[in-house]
Amino acid sequence: MRLIAHLSDLHFGRTDPMVVDALVHDIAHHRPHLAIISGDLTQRAKSHQFLEARKFLERLGIPVLVVPGNHDLAPVYRPLNRLLNPRAKFEKYLPASAHANGWNDDEIIVIGLDSTRHLRWQSGKLRDHHLDHVEDSLQDSGDHHCKIVFLHHPPSTAQSGHPFHTLTELGVDLILAGHVHKAHVDLIDSPDHGACVLVQASTACSTRLREDANGYALIRIDGPSLEVDIRGWSGTAFHAIHHYGFVRAETGWRRA
Ligand SMILES: [Fe+2]
Ligand SMILES: [Fe+2]
Repeated sequence: MRLIAHLSDLHFGRTDPMVVDALVHDIAHHRPHLAIISGDLTQRAKSHQFLEARKFLERLGIPVLVVPGNHDLAPVYRPLNRLLNPRAKFEKYLPASAHANGWNDDEIIVIGLDSTRHLRWQSGKLRDHHLDHVEDSLQDSGDHHCKIVFLHHPPSTAQSGHPFHTLTELGVDLILAGHVHKAHVDLIDSPDHGACVLVQASTACSTRLREDANGYALIRIDGPSLEVDIRGWSGTAFHAIHHYGFVRAETGWRRA
């Protein structure tokens, strides 16, 4: 069994410290094996915001994987930095082990994809080399592995030019994304390859709220069973607000 905390859109520089503390406590209480953070760790990609994000990752005290979001690239008012080395601070301030963004053990394989593009910040983009990387990474995987891809932008927008179900065709079981600050859990159908599970997290601790309260996902993977608990901020603590169950069948994942 593997328990994963999936967080997104932390936006340090515009966070509520009370929510940040409660988030650390709630995650510690559930003792996940791994935290996966699908981008937008900062609000404006400033050094002190990355340092706050790094401190938060250290407080979690568990292995963490991250990919950048559009807010983690050098801002538009620093055009030279944005053009020449947009991820310089992301790579400088976050632990190397976190932005190596891959994980492989007896039960899960996790692959992080950087969907950010400095000229296409809103929708992001997945390119052929990303899909090649997924294919290569899954070459030695077995049926006992749950194959997980995480990226900042929802695949529906980042995969323009590719069929929506490309990642499913490559054998991916679970896609984790963020960016839209709205929690959403669903099945993505692929005509010939069954379905995979999509988990889109809302913003974990930022005051940049849209329709959803702050929240994150706890994902329990146990062989052919996958459960997603969305935990949301009530004003005083994080609570379970939605539960989704899936099982793996011959034809891919379906609702339990
Ligand atoms: Fe965001
Ligand atoms: Fe974003």
